[in-house]
Parts: sequence; C-alpha cells; structure tokens
Amino acid sequence: MKIIAQILVIMAVGVIVISSCRKESIMTNSEGLATPVIEGDFLTPLAIPPSINGQGTLTAQVTTSTIFSGKKSKVLGYQSGSILGPSIVVNSGENININFQNSLAENSNIHWHGLITPAGMDGHPEDVALPGDSFVYKFTVSQRAGMYWYHPHPDGFTAKQAYLGLAGVFLVRDAEEQTLSLPSGEMEIPLVIQDKRINSNSDLEYSPNMIDIMTGYMGSNILVNGINSPYKDVRTRNYRLRVLNGSNGRIYNLALSDGASFTVIGADGGLLVSPQKVTSLLLGPGERADLIVNFSNYKIGTELFLASNTFSAGASQGIRNFRIMKFRVTQSDKDSFSLPEKLSDIETISKSSAIKTRTFDISNGGMGNMGGMSGMGSTGMTMKGMHRINNKVYDKSRIDETVRAGSTEIWEFDNSMGDESHPMHVHGLQFQVLDRNGGRNSLISTESGWKDTVLLLPGEKVHVIITFGRNKGKYVLHCHNLEHEDDGMMLQFEII
Ligand code: C2O
Ligand code: CU
Ligand code: CU
Repeated sequence: MKIIAQILVIMAVGVIVISSCRKESIMTNSEGLATPVIEGDFLTPLAIPPSINGQGTLTAQVTTSTIFSGKKSKVLGYQSGSILGPSIVVNSGENININFQNSLAENSNIHWHGLITPAGMDGHPEDVALPGDSFVYKFTVSQRAGMYWYHPHPDGFTAKQAYLGLAGVFLVRDAEEQTLSLPSGEMEIPLVIQDKRINSNSDLEYSPNMIDIMTGYMGSNILVNGINSPYKDVRTRNYRLRVLNGSNGRIYNLALSDGASFTVIGADGGLLVSPQKVTSLLLGPGERADLIVNFSNYKIGTELFLASNTFSAGASQGIRNFRIMKFRVTQSDKDSFSLPEKLSDIETISKSSAIKTRTFDISNGGMGNMGGMSGMGSTGMTMKGMHRINNKVYDKSRIDETVRAGSTEIWEFDNSMGDESHPMHVHGLQFQVLDRNGGRNSLISTESGWKDTVLLLPGEKVHVIITFGRNKGKYVLHCHNLEHEDDGMMLQFEII
C-alpha cells in the first residue's frame, strides 16, 4: 500500500533523528496503521455533563476524572473533577459572558466551534491567555438552534489540550426547534464520543509518534461523555441523541448493533429540512449529528449497542467494528411523538451567487513533502509540515485568503490524490455542501444541512458554498484531525 511505503520511508529518516531522543518504539500499531479498540464492560452508567447558561467561569486546569469505574485518571478539565466542561445551553439571541481562566502551565484559549463570533472572540490560535491569565469571551449568539462545541485552540497545543480533556458542548435553542416538540428533558441526550489512550495508571497520555501524526492520535478506549464503554437505561419511546465526535482523529460509522434504522434530523448547524432514515452514519472529528432513535418496539430486557461499523478509508480507519455504548431497554412507556415531514427552513445558497471559486489541495502530494522534514534537523522534534493545504504549512504572519464580508464563494477541498482522511473545518461560519466527487461520490444525510466541518475520505473532492458574515477580521480553516492541524494543516483567511 502506498501510504505504508511512504511512512516507512519517512520513518527511516525519522528514526535516525528521533531515536536519540525517544525511548518508546515507533512501531506501536499491530493492525496495519489502525489502533484497535478495546471494549470495556458496559457496566458504568452514562454521565451527563452539568449545564450552565451563557454566564460563568471556565478554568482550564489539571484535575482528575472517573473514566474507568473505581479509578481516578489524571486529565485536563474546564472544571475540577471531570474531563469535559459543562454544557453551555442558551437561546438564540442571548449574550455570552464567559470568563476563561488559564490555570495550565502553557498558553490556552477557547474556540467556539461552529459559532459565528467576532474575530477577536473566536479563539484564533494567536489569541491566547498566557499561563495564569484570564480572558473574557463576550459575544451575542445570533444563529439558529444547533449543537456546537468549544475546545482550546492555541497554536501548536490544540490537539494535546483537547485530547487531554478540554472540550464541551454548546447547545443553542430557538423557536423554530421548539415548535417540533422533539424528545426533551431526560429523553434528549448529548453523547460526546472520544477515543483515549491511557498509561498503566489509567491516566490519559498524549505522546504522538510519527505514525500518530500521520493517522491522528487514536486511542483504544472509547469514552462517551467521559466514561469508558458506558450504558444507558431507556424506555420504550423515542430519544433524541445529540452526538459530537470529539475525537482527535477517529472517524465513527455510527450504527445500532441490531442493524435497526434511526433518523437523522440535524447536523453541525442545526436541523435538516426533513428527517432522513439511515442504518449507519459516518461522523468525522468535529462533526455533530442530531438523531432520533425509537426504542418503542423493543421488549423490556433488550440490550443493544451504539456501535461503529467498518468502512473503507485507507490504512488507519474503519478496519474493525466495535461497540461504543449499551442501551438497556428497562421500562415500558408510550409517546405520541411522530416526526414531522418538514423540520426546518434552510434557504439554499444558489451557485450563481458565488463570485469566486477557491481551491484547497489537501492531498499533501501523496505525502511527498519531505521538504517539511528539513525542519527536524535544527529543532530536533518539530517534524512540522507533513500535512499541508495548498502545499503550505500554517504561518501566523501570512494571510492566505482574503474574502469580502457578505460575499458568496465556492470552496473546493481536493483530496483526490490523497490517501488519508481529512475533516475540513472553517471557523466563524456555516456552509452548505454542494457535491462530492471521487470516493463515495455522493453526499450523506447530514450534508443536506448547515455544516462547519466536512469529511473527505481518500480520493474525494468536495465543493462547499459559503456566504461570509459581517464580522471582519482573521479566522482559520484547517483539518480537524487535530494532529494534522497542529502539524500545520491550517491556513488563515481574513474577512475584509
Ligand atoms: Cu473545532 Cu478550529 O476547531
Ligand atoms: Cu471551529
Ligand atoms: Cu487531515
């Protein structure tokens, strides 16, 4: 396989440079380049993060969290005693006033993924709070209902800090959504799915080697809301599952273990126009899915799983199926809920309104970018630049694209020559996906809605259409495989 050959070449170069300063073996993966999942016992109940409104303090800190029952793991948190921050729940139109306190020993900040904020409030990689400092995020949430999220974005440390536990859900509600009477309260469950790698003390460990930077840092333990392999008791009725793939590199092909269908009602930027029935759904890092699962036809005592099915995406992803969490149907109930044919209004941005098409080559020249490796000699471990956009590595002093406030453009992400997957994400806006060529050759259900992250498997080319907002300033676009992002697969654009 091409990718493996290339990695071996890079490793041969890398090992010479690295072996002097690194003790563990670089050959840690046993199944090609995939990191196999080790399922837990599904005996720990699912936890739901506490919620707060748009006012409060988030303190990035070193703390512990109970990921495996009976054990405390060392993690990072936005609150003491747990991985994952509180869920921020607000109505559209509300003002946010969040005091961010950086109690880490390195720079940090908060990026509001999917939210449309002024440039200075977006958590740009250069807008950071130094260790011990704080920053107040103030903006108005002026967009539709949806499940957004927040995580750190300091230049070079995003992957590590997000991986070690800094992330949280940001739910926006609005009147349009309210009229649908979707399952709510206990029946609306946020599910943040993440994979983690642990050391012998069950502490989270972040020490990517060269293969991890290639594939994304994948872990063997799958966590939901910070708990390894949990279970959830459900009643015989409809549930609304609001799923975030908060993993650094792992893609999930979500499915129910009995093969039953479920309904996709929303994506990154809120509700779809109409519900779409599926039996599996691919969700890349950073993406969200709003799902209705109907448990009414199950017998009491049934156990079924939310699982990830296999899929084909190169050497590191989708090779094995595994189970994520267990549902135990324990109580009979009835609901009168039925899905309306129409969920929401989405105005289609017409192609003819686009004044420009920009192309972003994300194929990384089949990773022939050995030029990027030259930085290794002087700085030893930098290794930046194996992943690039338009053959460029992120540079804070360079504006890569300049766009006009209020204008509409088509952006092409081209992975047709690539052999890795890249979930491409643009800050400070929501876009619509026009088409996908190569690979799957079609759009999936979530891609009929508003999106801020779009997954490109090897061989795929995707067009998205964007109307830029009125918030002028600098934002970034990047691959949301966070190892790729920290490796330099990020560009800056400025809205003028
Ligand atoms: Cu969730 Cu710049 O990303
Ligand atoms: Cu973002
Ligand atoms: Cu990538």
